[in-house]
Amino acid sequence: MSSVPHVPRWDVHRLPRAGGKCFLVTGGNAGIGYFVAEQLAGTGATVVLGSRDRAKSEAAIGSIGSRVPGADVKHVLLDLADLASLKASVDALGLDRLDAVVHNAGVALDHPPRRETADGHELMFATNHLGHFALTHHLAPLLTATPGSRVVTTGSFAAKSERLDLDDLQSAHDYRPKRAYARSKLAQMLFALELDRRLRAADSTTVSVLVHPGGALDSLTPSRPPVHVRTTGERLSRLPLGLVVQGKDAAAWPAVRAVLDPAVRGGRMLSPRAFGLRGTPRTEPLWNHLADTVTAARLWTASRDLTGTDPTFSTADTAVLSRDPGGPTGARERSPGQVNRSR
Ligand SMILES: NC(=O)c1ccc[n+]([C@@H]2O[C@H](COP(=O)([O-])OP(=O)(O)OC[C@H]3O[C@@H](n4cnc5c(N)ncnc54)[C@H](OP(=O)(O)O)[C@@H]3O)[C@@H](O)[C@H]2O)c1
Repeated sequence: MSSVPHVPRWDVHRLPRAGGKCFLVTGGNAGIGYFVAEQLAGTGATVVLGSRDRAKSEAAIGSIGSRVPGADVKHVLLDLADLASLKASVDALGLDRLDAVVHNAGVALDHPPRRETADGHELMFATNHLGHFALTHHLAPLLTATPGSRVVTTGSFAAKSERLDLDDLQSAHDYRPKRAYARSKLAQMLFALELDRRLRAADSTTVSVLVHPGGALDSLTPSRPPVHVRTTGERLSRLPLGLVVQGKDAAAWPAVRAVLDPAVRGGRMLSPRAFGLRGTPRTEPLWNHLADTVTAARLWTASRDLTGTDPTFSTADTAVLSRDPGGPTGARERSPGQVNRSR
């Protein structure tokens, strides 16, 4: 008689231990990234905060240390808007393996004018998408050296109703800040799925997982002084919004699950359970336009040309895996829409 394996329910308050593992969280000094780092630190793992601001990172490390006894949290200088600096940031990690990177950092501008990085790229597209694309390239050797490693990319609900303009990826001709933000997040989401197809085609054990955090407000987020302080007035005035959206502590749950849950597969999307806006993390069916492999491939080519990087993962880790009986747990299922090798 065959028995169905028991898959325990994911409990955001009872995370599996991950001692000996190492995770990098971009933008881990504030907001959702801070809570991703705090929750991952609670598993016994080493957590590195990738942040452009050393003082903010030190405050975050102090806060996590005061809440998580024995937390092992470090900082590496990381400015995603400065493409040329990213290799040095990865070198400064001083690591020879990495179990997961959470591409969390992001910038959202509400008002014009259109801003550019020193490289001449539109700021939101550059920081949110191009920076993480190039960072993945530089991290590839570390991820490849780690069987079952994960790239977790943070998208947004805002991208659900958006489409890319491949002829104007950087909104040079028609700049609307909210649309440019949503498109930058859609670019990240298409990247995450294209990356997973390429990883599968290369027989890599690394997987790429997509998450989106729902709606998260600072006013619904518990205080973590001096990183974030919420006044009683703020908390009370925004209380009704808690029916629809959530705090950044809860918004961290999809990414934390994507890093830790052995049942999570590459090419999947995790998001909050209630309308994709709030609640515990579950796997959400991919939105139709996320399955557009032609747009994803053209975006990849454009990103490669704009950054001068091309995240490729060798098959060397397959050999490591075959020697490692304890290798990745359940993370090697092929995802739908496997990449065409001739592309
Ligand atoms: N909040 C939401 O409702 C929501 C909804 C959907 C998706 N998201 C996504 O979730 C992620 C986190 O959002 P959040 O609400 O936590 O934002 P946040 O509170 O504004 O935090 C953003 C983080 O990104 C960092 N960052 C910005 N530019 C950077 C750069 N050039 N290099 C390195 N780090 C940089 C910030 O660092 P500094 O402190 O140095 O500025 C900060 O740590 C973002 O990707 C966002 O798009 C958020």
